[in-house]
Amino acid sequence: MTDRYCVFGHPVGHSRSPQIHAAFAEQSGEAITYTAIEAPLDDFAGAWRAFVAAGGCGANVTVPFKEDAFRLCDTLSARARRAGAVNTLILGDNGQTYGDTTDGVGLVRDLAQHGVNLAGARILVLGAGGAVRGVLEPLLTAQPASLLVANRTAEKAVSLAADFSDLGAIRGGGFEAVEGPFEVVINGTSASLAGDLPPLPDDLFAATATAYDMMYGAEPTVFLRWALERGARPIDGLGMLVEQAAEAFFQWRHKRPDTAPVLASLRASL
Ligand code: ATR
Repeated sequence: MTDRYCVFGHPVGHSRSPQIHAAFAEQSGEAITYTAIEAPLDDFAGAWRAFVAAGGCGANVTVPFKEDAFRLCDTLSARARRAGAVNTLILGDNGQTYGDTTDGVGLVRDLAQHGVNLAGARILVLGAGGAVRGVLEPLLTAQPASLLVANRTAEKAVSLAADFSDLGAIRGGGFEAVEGPFEVVINGTSASLAGDLPPLPDDLFAATATAYDMMYGAEPTVFLRWALERGARPIDGLGMLVEQAAEAFFQWRHKRPDTAPVLASLRASL
């Protein structure tokens, strides 16, 4: 039987993951199916068990189930334990469920693909929710000079930074505490969904700076438009989406997809 994979979400109709994984499978000659499944909000574990009973061997997990997925796993990768969230489920030969998170690796790889050097950089991360928690470990592992987490609710940023302080020079605070310049500014808030922009100083960016939005869309986000006007190079999160998918595909199939053509065709289809 063909190995079955899926993405769980709620809603999930908008997910690009089936398109991305179909492209990876075609490229690598792997015979798999990959579908989108809307799991019930109150029984994610039941949805995973039913998928496994029907021959499923792995899944991606998106909003709002990443913490539910974390809780149901028998074993976890170190980075998933840090993140407190799982976006990739793998069914082991022993029937146990292993959980990993590939979001942070996806972000760091996409930045690398764009030639952005994190080592020695001053990094600002906006937001302190689940999306940001998921990417801090790989960002710190890249050895930036400093990493400031700034959030509307300052205490959340302070406590998040404390959780990662063993990994490098990380601090947390409110937006009013932000003092540039930064070489890399990453927006991990959901503010752009509402068309909002965190209140930020005008002199945020170093002379050569990258502004990265973990969101993406057919049009640049409010944050990326604002950053472009201030001289930063804007990059949206579509590449992160493809790279996190590639890492999940690698975990399942032990083959590394060539992400560039997949990203190009996804971009064209937005
Ligand atoms: P996610 O899983 O996307 O990280 P989350 O855990 O709900 O979702 O976190 C959302 C993040 O976006 C938080 O950092 C939130 O700030 P608060 O902690 O102060 O709530 C931030 N956020 C959402 N809307 C925002 C807005 N309009 N302006 C600034 N920050 C916003």
